[in-house]
Amino acid sequence: MKALWFDPAEMLIGGEWMAGAARLDVEDPSSTDIIAQISRGQTGDIDKAVEAAENALVGDWGRMPAFERGRILARLGQMVLERAEDLALIEAMDVGKPLDQARADARALARYLEFYGGAADKVMGETIPFQDGYTVYTLREPHGVTGHIIPWNYPMQIIGRSVGAALAMGNACVLKPAEEACLTALAFARLAVEAGLPDGALNVVTGLGEEAGAALASHSGVHHISFTGSVGVGSLIQQSAARHIVPVTLELGGKSPQLVFEDADLDQALPFLVGAGIQNAGQTCSAASRILVHEDLFETVRDRMAERYAELKIGPAVNNLDVGPLISARQKEIVEGFLAQVEADRIVGQATGIPHSGHFVAPTLISGITPDHPLAQQEIFGPVQVLLPFRDEAEAVRIANGTDFGLVAGVWTRDGGRQMRLARALRAGQVFINNYGAGGGVELPFGGVGKSGHGREKGFEALYGFSTLKTVAAHHG
Ligand code: NAI
Ligand code: MG
Repeated sequence: MKALWFDPAEMLIGGEWMAGAARLDVEDPSSTDIIAQISRGQTGDIDKAVEAAENALVGDWGRMPAFERGRILARLGQMVLERAEDLALIEAMDVGKPLDQARADARALARYLEFYGGAADKVMGETIPFQDGYTVYTLREPHGVTGHIIPWNYPMQIIGRSVGAALAMGNACVLKPAEEACLTALAFARLAVEAGLPDGALNVVTGLGEEAGAALASHSGVHHISFTGSVGVGSLIQQSAARHIVPVTLELGGKSPQLVFEDADLDQALPFLVGAGIQNAGQTCSAASRILVHEDLFETVRDRMAERYAELKIGPAVNNLDVGPLISARQKEIVEGFLAQVEADRIVGQATGIPHSGHFVAPTLISGITPDHPLAQQEIFGPVQVLLPFRDEAEAVRIANGTDFGLVAGVWTRDGGRQMRLARALRAGQVFINNYGAGGGVELPFGGVGKSGHGREKGFEALYGFSTLKTVAAHHG
C-alpha cells in the first residue's frame, strides 16, 4: 500500500520494532483485497510489552517532568497534523472509512494530543484544612502500566482520547488495537518514537482479541485497563481485571436516541438526524440509531429522512462518498441478520446503488415497529435507523430511557423549560440540545451508564480516570 511508509508486521515493544512469530492478513473492506500483513502477537509479546512499560516507569519516562511529557504530546500532535493525509488514506483502506471522515479522525487525534499535551502540567492536588499540627495534601499520580484495548471503528480518535490522556498523566501504555484495524495505531507509534517518546512509554502489540487482548486484560502487571468495544467482551475484561483488582474504563456503545418535538427546527435537525445514523456506516458507539418523533411531525420527519436516504451515495472509501462498507464480512452478517427480523414493508427509506464487491449494506430507515422490538433495543452497528412516534414528553422520555444502554441523547425543541427537564431526565452520559455530538467534542467528558459502560474519557475528566489520588498527612506538631 502506497501510503504505508513502514512495515506493519513490526510491533513496538520497549522502543524496538519487532515482528511476531505469526501473521494476520489486513483486508480492505471496500474491495476485500488483502493489502498488508500484521503480526499476530501472543501472550509472550504482551509479557514483554508490560515489562518494557514497567522499565519505562522507573526510567526516563517516569522521571520526566509533566511539562516535558506535554511537550512531546504537543509535538506528536503537530506531526499527526503534518501526516494527516497519509493517516487518512491508510485508515480509509484499512477500515473502509470515506476519506473525509478518516481525515476528521486524524485531525481529532491531533486535537487530543494538543489538549492532553497542554493539560499534562495542569493537573493539581489540593491542600486540605485539617487538625492543628498537620499539613495534608493530595498528589495525582499515574496508575503505572495502563492497557488500552481499542476497537476498529475509530482507531485514531480512541487512541487519542485514551492513550493521549494516559501518557499525559505519566502512565506507560500497552496498546492492543483491533485485529481489523491496526495500521494507524502502528503509524501513530512510529510518529511517537520520532517525537521523542522514551522507550517503553508506548508499546503496541497487534493480534487477536482472544489472544493478545485477553493476555493484556488478565496480566497481573497492568494497573488500569481502558476498553472500548462490545458489551460481551467488556464484561469479560471487567471479570479478568477483577481477579487482580484492577480498575477498568468501559465504553460499550449504545442505542442512542434523538428526540424531535413538535416545536423543533426541522431544517436544522435533519442533517443531524440522518448524519448521526449513517456516519462511519453506522459503526459508531454514539450513533443515533433511534429517532423518536412527536406524532404531529412523524410523517413529515419520516418522509424527509427517506428523501435523504434516497440521495445517499455509497462506494469505496477512497471515492469519499457518504457511506463506505462495513468493516468485515462478519459485521455485514450481523447487520443483515437484524434486517431479516423486519418485514419488507417496514422499510420506509433506503439507499440504492450499492456496490457488489466489498462489505456494503444499504443504509436503511425502519418504521412501524414497537420500542421493544430487537431492532429498537439492540445495537446494530450498521447504517440502520429506527423511527418511533411519541405522544407527549413523558412518553418520549420513557421510550428514550427504555433500553439497557445510556450513552448519548439528542433533544430538538425550542422550549427552554423542556430542554432543561430532558437534560436531567434522559439516562445518558451526554445530552445534546439542538445539536448532536458537538462536532466530536475532544474537550467534553464522554462515557455511559448502564450497559454503555462506566468511567469517562475525553475532556479534562479523563486525566482523573488515568490517575490515582494519594493523600499525604504530615504531622509536624
Ligand atoms: P469486540 O468487542 O470483540 O472488539 C473490540 C476490541 O476487543 C478489539 O481490540 C478486540 O481485539 C478486543 N477483544 C475481543 N475479544 C477479546 C477478549 N476476549 N479479551 C480482550 N480483548 C478482546 O467487538 P467486535 O467483535 O469487533 O464487534 C462486535 C460488536 O461490538 C459490534 O457489532 C458492536 O455492536 C460492538 N462494538 C462497539 C464498539 C464501540 O464503539 N462501543 C466498537 C466495536 C464494536
Ligand atoms: Mg482492516
